[in-house]
Amino acid sequence: MALVAVGVLATACGSGGETTAEGGAPASGGGDSTITMGFAQVGAESGWRTANTKSVQESAKAAGIDLKFSDAQQKQENQIKAIRSYIQQKVDVIAFSPVVESGWDTVLQEAKAANIPVILTDRAVDSPDKTLYKTFLGSDFVEEGKKAGQWLVEQYASETGDVNIVELQGTTGSAPANDRKAGFAEVIGADPKFKVIASQSGDFTRAKGKEVMDAFLKANPDIDVLYAHNDDMGLGAIEAIEGAGKVPGKDIKIITVDAVKDGMQALADGKINYIVECSPLLGPQLMDLAKKVLAGETVPDRVVTEETTFTQEQAKQALPTRQY
Ligand code: AHR
Repeated sequence: MALVAVGVLATACGSGGETTAEGGAPASGGGDSTITMGFAQVGAESGWRTANTKSVQESAKAAGIDLKFSDAQQKQENQIKAIRSYIQQKVDVIAFSPVVESGWDTVLQEAKAANIPVILTDRAVDSPDKTLYKTFLGSDFVEEGKKAGQWLVEQYASETGDVNIVELQGTTGSAPANDRKAGFAEVIGADPKFKVIASQSGDFTRAKGKEVMDAFLKANPDIDVLYAHNDDMGLGAIEAIEGAGKVPGKDIKIITVDAVKDGMQALADGKINYIVECSPLLGPQLMDLAKKVLAGETVPDRVVTEETTFTQEQAKQALPTRQY
C-alpha cells in the first residue's frame, strides 16, 4: 500500500516539478522551521483545475512552504493513498480538495490521530464530525447554482411556454455537482414552465461534455437551454451543438460555471450566454490559513470565496486582464 502511494506522489511530483518551495523563506536552524504541506489535488480535468494547481504551487513557493503535491486523476482511492503517504511522511499540514463528498472519515481520523491538521480546499466532505478538519476554504456552490437559475428566470420572464433545459452535471458525488444542481433546481422550481428534460454527468471534462450533449441532441429535438456545471463541459457541448447544425448561444442558450479564459472567450464570442464565476485562485488564502493553524491561531470554520457573474458584454471587458 505504502509503495503504491509513493508511486502516486512520485509521478505527480515528477511532472509538476514542485516538490519544494524553492526561493521561499530560508529555513532557520537547518530547515526545522519550514512548513511542509501535503496537497492532494483532484486531477487535471478542467481549465479551472489547472489554474487552481498553479495558484497552490506558486503561493506555496511565495510563502516559503515546502509543498508535496499529488494528482489523483479524479480517483478517490488515489487521494486516500496520497493522504496516507503524507501522514507517513509526517508533513506539518495536509490540504486537499475531495473529489467526492463521502467516504473520508477513516483517513481523516488517521490524520487526526497523527496530530496532522487538515484543511479542506475547494470542495467539502459530508462528514458530520467537523473536528476532522480545521477549516474549509472555497466557493458556495449552492449559491453558484442559484445565480445560474436567477439569470434564466429573468431571461424568460415574459415567456409563457415551456422552457426545455438539459443539464451537464459535474463529477457524480462531488460537492460542486450536488450543490450546483440543487441551487439551480431550487430557483427554477418556482415556475413550472422550466423543465429539466435531461440531466447527466459529463465529469467536468470537455470530451465528456461533448459526448453527453451529442446524446442529448439526438434524444431531444427541442432543447432551449443548456446548463453546464463548468465551462469545459459547456465548451465540449458547443462542439456537439455546432456539429448538429445548431447555433450555440442562439438556438440553444448556454449557462456555465467557472469563467476560465476559454469560457470567457466563448461568452464574448456569443456562444455562451452567461457564466457564473468560480474562482480557482485559492492558493494565497490556503497558505495563510495553514500558517495560522500551525501557529495555534483560531481560524474560521468556513472561508467563502468572493465571486461574480459575467454577461457577454462584461466578458469582453474582463478578458484582456483575466488571470486564468
Ligand atoms: O470544484 C471546482 C470544480 O472542479 C470546477 O468548477 C470544475 O471546473 C472543476 O473541475
